[in-house]
Amino acid sequence: ADIRTPAAAASAVAAPTSKSTVDIDWDNIGFGIRDTDYMYVATCQLGTEEWRGSLRPFGNMTMSPSAAVLNYGQGVFEGLKASRTADGRILLFRPEENAARMTYGAGRMSMPAPPKDLFLDAVKQTVLANEAWIPPYGKGSLYIRPLLIGTGAVLGLAPAPEFTFLVFVSPVGSYFKTGQMSPLDLYVEEVFKRASPGGSGGVKTISNYAPVLMTQLNAKKQGFADVIYLDAVENKYVEEVSSCNIFVVKGKTIVTPELKGTILPGITRKSVMELARSKGFDVSEERVSIEDLLAGDEVFCTGTAVVISAVGSVTYQGKKREYHTGQPGPVAQDLYKTLTDLQTGRSPDTLGWTIQL
Ligand code: COI
Repeated sequence: ADIRTPAAAASAVAAPTSKSTVDIDWDNIGFGIRDTDYMYVATCQLGTEEWRGSLRPFGNMTMSPSAAVLNYGQGVFEGLKASRTADGRILLFRPEENAARMTYGAGRMSMPAPPKDLFLDAVKQTVLANEAWIPPYGKGSLYIRPLLIGTGAVLGLAPAPEFTFLVFVSPVGSYFKTGQMSPLDLYVEEVFKRASPGGSGGVKTISNYAPVLMTQLNAKKQGFADVIYLDAVENKYVEEVSSCNIFVVKGKTIVTPELKGTILPGITRKSVMELARSKGFDVSEERVSIEDLLAGDEVFCTGTAVVISAVGSVTYQGKKREYHTGQPGPVAQDLYKTLTDLQTGRSPDTLGWTIQL
């Protein structure tokens, strides 16, 4: 089916019935894409703000070779998760935050954003239609990927005449191959930058991610799990890791780099700051120099995909600073437990962060 016209989107509706079981080894899911049963697709013509969408069977899409997303990278994405509770309920974690962030990013990338209610409804419908793919309690979660892209054809540099909002899902376990509880060895990149002031580092545009692959792959070849980026101006302040934010713990103080347009405003980042404050930590967002990071007692990363991942070592200018090896440091471990207890319904949600489907 051609996704470029609302008529095509509307005609592709199939009655969404989730399978009762799927053939998958729940103990070895990893973080990869699996073809699930349904995806949500909506389209909007430039200048109309009118979205028409529906669920349709998961599958390939067609678009013009001249689509703005293919030629000029006009697109933003989101990531959130649905988790199963011990008693079989399904919980979404802070989906309204994703809707708001997509709206903000859409503005920066000159795209119309799907209204919040349409975003939330699309996420809920897609999760429920793929219910069989939600890992059992304790085995992982369903990663949800909302995507907003310019699918209309352009040649000169201009916004697309048509936009597509999609939601697809995939069951996931631990993001890093070494497993959720294994601390990461990170490498501080000094030559290549992730983002610069005035650029698009602070929005979740698709074009922020391919440029980090080269440094990430180089680091992986040398045995590192990922890369820490430094600021583009002074080459001295910590920004973030390729796919996640970073925190430093020193005694009862926790710092994370301040949001100044080059750092992704993570929803897990924001949640962890709040949880840490409620545990009595003095949490601040400020410039974090590489020296501050190396002097910390503990370092950890946060993100929807990585959850909270402890850092075991940081290598900077050929020197390796080891933190906690073998197992996560106590602060990362405690925050991980508190966050995942909330996300999986093990603790009562007094903050109103989860939505039950
Ligand atoms: C997420 O954590 O959800 C992200 O979007 C990062 C992505 C590179 C997996």
